[in-house]
Amino acid sequence: MNILIGEDEIRERVKELAGEIISDFGYEEISIVALLKGSFVFLADIIREFHRQGSKLVVEFIDVSSYGGATSPQGGPSVREFARPPVCGRKVLLVDDILDTGRTLSKCRLILEKEDPRVLKTCVFLVKDVKRLVDISPDYYGFEIGNKFVVGYGLDYDGRFRELPYITEIDDISMPAGRQKPK
Ligand code: PRP
Repeated sequence: MNILIGEDEIRERVKELAGEIISDFGYEEISIVALLKGSFVFLADIIREFHRQGSKLVVEFIDVSSYGGATSPQGGPSVREFARPPVCGRKVLLVDDILDTGRTLSKCRLILEKEDPRVLKTCVFLVKDVKRLVDISPDYYGFEIGNKFVVGYGLDYDGRFRELPYITEIDDISMPAGRQKPK
């Protein structure tokens, strides 16, 4: 495995990121809305950092999917909403694992915007350096990566590799039998 972003680097950056966000948001309770599934590892780390740094949170989820078993988005993202309290009047941080075409973040941002939050910011762990289909940039991000297909730290290929504690480009040896490295 060619490790692009290692565990120590991730830990440091997540801690820093939580600090940056708190200094903008202040210590009033933050509503975190995280996008499933890819964000779950980043979310687990950053919410505990928020706690260590003194923040209080409400954590909710939106289930959204665009890739299916493929390596590039297929059509528009489909959203399944769980019951959650509306974010009206709240300070909200929308959290995802990666920004690629921008369609997922943009669609979910719009859903929350309609609920009239007092503050609405976006935070993604990785920003892919590609031309977006939708003009959106995150307010906060962990790392920028090139136009690579990466897995680990919650990001998957067909449900696999989410458990890796680092970000890597998968190679042919690491692929499950009979599968080819995604292009
Ligand atoms: C991935 C990723 C982001 C989205 C980014 O989700 O987790 O949510 O794609 O792509 P975009 O900027 O092109 O919209 P995926 O559909 O793979 O689902 P998952 O999170 O369940 O793995």
